[in-house]
Amino acid sequence: MRYLTFALAKGRLAKTTMKMFEEIGIKCEEMKDEKTRKLIFVNEELKLKFFLAKAGDVPTYVEYGAADIGVVGKDTILEEGRKLYEVLDLNFGKCRMCVCGPESARALLNNHGMIRVASKYPNIAKDYFYNQKHQTVEIIKLNGSVELAPIVGLSEVIVDIVETGSTLKENGLTVLEEVCPLSARMVVNQVSMKMEDERIRKLINELKGQIK
Ligand code: PRP
Repeated sequence: MRYLTFALAKGRLAKTTMKMFEEIGIKCEEMKDEKTRKLIFVNEELKLKFFLAKAGDVPTYVEYGAADIGVVGKDTILEEGRKLYEVLDLNFGKCRMCVCGPESARALLNNHGMIRVASKYPNIAKDYFYNQKHQTVEIIKLNGSVELAPIVGLSEVIVDIVETGSTLKENGLTVLEEVCPLSARMVVNQVSMKMEDERIRKLINELKGQIK
């Protein structure tokens, strides 16, 4: 039997995923060691390998088949636009992709005026404004703390993830429009889905039983 390899998005997502896997009998003790510098973890009896990657790289590993399976947020899947199968909504890490800004930016959005949109997700922002809203905007790519942009006058609005809404609130910003709901998803390489059909289907079915 060959190894099935999993790419997990580093951080909270990976932790919750491993908890779900444990509940269906897939354990990987060496991964729990917070101090380890190891990059790849193996479960010999089940012939599984796991590695952690930056969220944005997970779809890349899966598309190229370096990982058979990935667990990553829907935001990253949409942004990366890779060729892969999205097979399961794991129903955790739930949040929303939103257009946010000061209340005063609402009029600019409604008037379809030329505005600047800052985002860590330029492709999602482009798709939303160009293909869904048919509104021409200028998109400015940032790498984090995107809420700063409208505060310091880099952009009128942002496209960003809203979970509790407290980051917005503490910075005098608000949700102006909702782009789409988000959560953690399982993705599968297109060839692996055919070659390892039985093992992957079994895994999906077992995980379905754990979804809250
Ligand atoms: C995300 C997102 C918001 C915040 C939303 O940022 O970009 O800033 O969480 O959460 P809230 O609605 O519960 O306040 P993250 O912490 O991932 O870091 P970033 O600033 O680097 O994007």
